[in-house]
Amino acid sequence: MNNNHIKPFVVTIDGPAGSGKGTISKLVSQTLDFHYLDSGAIYRIIAFEAKTKNLITNQITQILELIDGLNIQFSDEKTFLYGKDITDLIRSELIGKFASEIAKNELIRGRILGLQKSFFKSPGLVADGRDMGTVVFPEAKVKIFLTASIEERVNRRYKQLILKENNVNLTDLFERIKFRDESDTNRKISPLKAAEDAFLIKTDNLSIKQSFEKVMEIIRSKENKIK
Ligand code: C5P
Repeated sequence: MNNNHIKPFVVTIDGPAGSGKGTISKLVSQTLDFHYLDSGAIYRIIAFEAKTKNLITNQITQILELIDGLNIQFSDEKTFLYGKDITDLIRSELIGKFASEIAKNELIRGRILGLQKSFFKSPGLVADGRDMGTVVFPEAKVKIFLTASIEERVNRRYKQLILKENNVNLTDLFERIKFRDESDTNRKISPLKAAEDAFLIKTDNLSIKQSFEKVMEIIRSKENKIK
């Protein structure tokens, strides 16, 4: 898409694990030819590196130091840390849980704010996460909040994980996602919640294509130069 005619803007897509925000955000960013920020991946990378260094969640000073030294690259849907492809390594629910614990800390969240904001460049950005519309990009032109029932989200996540790991237990996965939902929703700092000006989309009965089309409709309603 040729975007020379529009003023760069941000689309935020927040929601809980398995709501479809990653898939939809990627599709939207490709369609608009916008940059893409997977903010959850940043928390996962920090968790992965902290685990590699045998740190525990309350070793905040060490985790902050680790963040300052991180060399992350996102390219062609892959995530590299110090040049090593860690795309699949950061996707486990174990790393997700550790990421969620680390993400409760205000200092850690503050430390990566600049990194997250740096993704906003011309011609625009699609940012997905938990607090993109509320904290990181409160000025975003379009804010979406995707939800789905926990059963639906667990099933979706199961299908993703089973492609990469052979021993995924559905009951375990349900408990882990439920725990992560509660922890992300109830934390004091930047909890998972829809911005007041966000559009809510429930994706239970929608295909990826239908959810994507709903999001594009909302974007077009906010920026009529997008066809
Ligand atoms: O989106 P994803 O499941 O990869 O995120 C992993 C964890 O990172 C979440 O459970 C959440 O605790 C944290 N996170 C966050 N804020 C964001 C994105 C992710 O706290 N903007």
